[in-house]
Parts: sequence; structure tokens; C-alpha cells
Amino acid sequence: MEDWRTLYQQKLTTAEEAVKHIKSGDRVVVTHATGEPILLTDAMVANAEQYENVEVVHMVAMGKAEYCLPENSKHFRHNSLFLGGSTRKAIEEGRGDFTPVFFSEIPELFRTTLHPNVVLLHLSTPDEHGYCSFGVSCDYTKPAAECADLLIAQINPKMPRTMGDSFIHVSKLDYIVEQETDLIELAPPHIGEVERAIGENIASLVKDGDCLQLGIGAIPDAVLLFLKDKKDLGIHSEMFSDGVVELVEAGVITNAKKNIHKGKSVATFLMGTRRLYDYVDNNPEVAMMPVDYVNDPRVICQNDNLVSINSCVQVDLMGQVVSTCVGLRQISGVGGQVDFVRGANMSRGGRTIMAMPSTAAKGTISKIVPLIDEGAAVTTSRYDVNYVVTEYGIAQLKGKTLRERARELIKIAHPDFREGLIKVYEERFHAKF
Ligand code: COA
Repeated sequence: MEDWRTLYQQKLTTAEEAVKHIKSGDRVVVTHATGEPILLTDAMVANAEQYENVEVVHMVAMGKAEYCLPENSKHFRHNSLFLGGSTRKAIEEGRGDFTPVFFSEIPELFRTTLHPNVVLLHLSTPDEHGYCSFGVSCDYTKPAAECADLLIAQINPKMPRTMGDSFIHVSKLDYIVEQETDLIELAPPHIGEVERAIGENIASLVKDGDCLQLGIGAIPDAVLLFLKDKKDLGIHSEMFSDGVVELVEAGVITNAKKNIHKGKSVATFLMGTRRLYDYVDNNPEVAMMPVDYVNDPRVICQNDNLVSINSCVQVDLMGQVVSTCVGLRQISGVGGQVDFVRGANMSRGGRTIMAMPSTAAKGTISKIVPLIDEGAAVTTSRYDVNYVVTEYGIAQLKGKTLRERARELIKIAHPDFREGLIKVYEERFHAKF
């Protein structure tokens, strides 16, 4: 093979030139979340007039998503695998589509059904062997790159070189754009009184030696605040953020009790600040792997005492969990919630935790409801859910009858809504509360 350095030089181009190789009708898969190569997505949007009907596919949207704007609708159509702030409106207004899919199954979808014509990558600089790392976003990006027709990559010295199964050789890339740019950062969320109370309740369910999956947002971060006295925790999680670094530094997360990947925190993507990106850079304590491995319930359950911690929008009195929509309105996607709930349920000693504030819309709506909203889709079924946690306590549902479940859930509802829920309980079950 030619020396990789020669190949690298031959493939070097500018973002403007690289995106000219996208053709009308192509399906373009974009690295998502904090890994989005903004340089390339901006260049693609700037070249909009040259395209018709380019399908832009990705999961978590943290960038501007200008391909979703009304004026670009002739040129692009977004196919969302997980909605975010910048893509919700386009889907709501019919300028884009949502494809329901488990995160773990996205790679197979690309291999079999949604063939990627082009993948926009965001990679670290190559090592001495010519391997670039997928950095903060290995997830579906690596599998998509392995089955795509054309790869356009931004090579960025600021992209951390994450270890694990997270590399691609320069020879596989078609066009390389070399530019140092800041990665998207996710600032640590504001943790208020409600989140602190939820975090404390969740932490009471976590034991020394447990292996954790943490969802995204204020609640998982609040949990971490209350884990400082635990020992030998492990991480096998779809993603993690800055909070984990603190617990590693405090000696709380050691990964010493894990059955697989002992001594390593395993994840498939990362969202945080530069502190997190510096921590994972060249760090063999962190293994980044593709999502069809990390989120496979058969892999997840190989760790004993796997505790999954996720958030949701609504829970009905049977324990059905809605996490991705408000009525018919899609607000996010399933991500790895069900992958991890299944894996945790199969793990010896595993526990699933669904956590949420007891109310939404500034306290005007109860998230614990008699019936889920019309049009809403159940994300995690009543058969899979076990612990539901709010700021008012913990409801344990597995092994409980419908009547017992309703009682447990009403006890952790906001006091303002308990009376109404009790009325429903008494009518539904012909029994005093
Ligand atoms: N009724 C009406 N509106 C509700 C509601 C309810 N029961 N629950 C939430 N909302 C509204 C909020 O008011 C908010 O509206 P706004 O954007 O206009 O302020 C919006 O829905 C989002 O709710 P919020 O509580 O701010 O969301 P969050 O950022 O804490 O995320 C989930 C919560 C459930 C959306 C998020 O955890 C998720 O997408 N989960 C599924 C995916 C998952 O679990 N992945 C696992 C690993 S990453």
C-alpha cells in the first residue's frame, strides 16, 4: 500500500470543494451531537442551490440544522432518528420526517435499508499508522462509514483521540478537509432543588460495585452528585458527560467490578465540555465502541448489577412510560432507553430506573397521569419498567398488580395532583386508596 501520508496529501481539499461531490437524491449521514462536523454541514448548506432532494440523516441535533429551514426545503429533506431543538419545528411542519428506531439498530438499518451514499465525518488527526479516531461520536458513525459510497472527513486536532474500537484508516477516506475548530460543547445543566431531590432518591438505589448507564440531562448529572460515597462503580453507558470525570478523579468510578471491559468506562458517544474531551483523549481507561455493540442488550447484560437511569415525559398509572413525545408531537427519540432497560432487566442484579420531575410546564401538568395523552407512543412498556423516581420518592413496580402500581405511583405524584389521581384510583379499582 502507498504510504498513508501520500494518500492523505492526495485527498486534501477544502470543505467547499468536498461537498460538491454530494449529488441530488443522495442520502447523507451526518456525525451527530457534539461530533457534528459544522464546517462540512455549513459548506453543504452553502451549496444548497446545487442539490435537489438530498436526504440528511442523523440522530441528536445540536447544531444549527439549517438544511431544515423552509427556504432549503427544495434542496434538503431531514430524516431524523432523534429530534432536537433545531430540528423539531421542521418535523412538526412537515419539512422533515422521523424514523422510530432503537439506537442499537441504526447500524443495521444503514447496512440493509437506509444505505448511506455519503457520510460526513469528524475525526482526530491520524496516528503514526494512519488511523484517525472517531473521537466523541463512534456510535452509528463508524458502521455508517464502513458501508457508505463516499466519505468526506474533517480532520480536527481538537477532536480527542478516543480509544476502543473507534478508528478508521486514512486510506478509507475519499476527501479530507483539515481544519482546527472547537467542538460543540454541552454546558453542565442547571441542577435545581427538584433535580437534587430526584438525584438523591436515585442514588439510594445504587450500590457499591454497580455498573451505570446514565441518560442525558440534569437528572443523571444530579445523581452523580450523590454518589461520592460509593465505591467501585462502573460505566457501561450509551453516553456520558463531565460528571463522570469528577467521579473518576474522586476514585468512585474504578470499573473494577465489571465482568466485561474491566477497568474501562465504555460508551458510544460523549457530550460535555473541553474538560471531558481532554480527559478521554488518548486515555485507555475509556473505550468508545460502535452502538450496535455498546447498546446491544446481550452485551449490556454481561455486566452484573447494571443500573439504567433514564428520563421520561409521562407515566400512566399502569407504569407505561412515554419518553419521546407530548401527545402526537414528537420531541425526541428512543435513543438507547429501551436498549438499556432490556439489558438491565437481563443483567444479574440489574435495575431499571425511570426518573422525572413530578410535574411539567411550571408545575401545571402532572407527569403521572391516569391515561397517557391521546396520540402519545409508549416508549418503555409496563412489563419492562421497575423503579419510577420523582422528587417525592420511589415507586417500585415489578411484581406489583395494576392496583398496587397505581398506589405506588400516586404516592410519588406532586401533592397538587394526588387528589385527582386518587379519585381515578377509587373509581377504577372500586377500592378506597
Ligand atoms: N406534558 C406536557 N409537556 C411536557 C411533559 C408532559 N408530561 N413532559 C415534558 N414536557 C415538555 C416540557 O415542558 C418541555 O417543553 P419546552 O421545551 O417547551 O420547555 C419539553 O417537553 C421537554 O421536556 P424536558 O423535561 O425539558 O426534557 P429533558 O431535556 O429533561 O428531557 C426527555 C426529557 C424525556 C425528553 C429525554 O430524557 C428523552 O428524550 N428521553 C428519551 C431518550 C433516552 O432516554 N435516551 C437514553 C439515553 S441518552
